[in-house]
Amino acid sequence: MADDDKAGAIYVCTNLRVSGASCAGRGGGDILKALHAEAKARGGAVVVKSSVCMGHCAKGPNVKIRGGGFHHEVRPGDAAALVAAADPAKRG
Ligand code: FES
Repeated sequence: MADDDKAGAIYVCTNLRVSGASCAGRGGGDILKALHAEAKARGGAVVVKSSVCMGHCAKGPNVKIRGGGFHHEVRPGDAAALVAAADPAKRG
């Protein structure tokens, strides 16, 4: 699916900070992989992209759904629910 404004999209912070907490240090790469796998398994209606810092470093890994809010302290087990929430067919 094209990455236009109406497409489902999830942005995953994978930023690594030299000092202090960061999403990369808290497992952001694992979240990115889990979301990519889940999005692919669901047919590709949702695009998953890595992101720069979202400003919530101590609460990472952080995820933002296009048109929605932030999700903090995300775990790989949250991937199915996040991709479903980002799917434009489910958002109405
Ligand atoms: S490093 Fe992810 S929000 Fe700052």
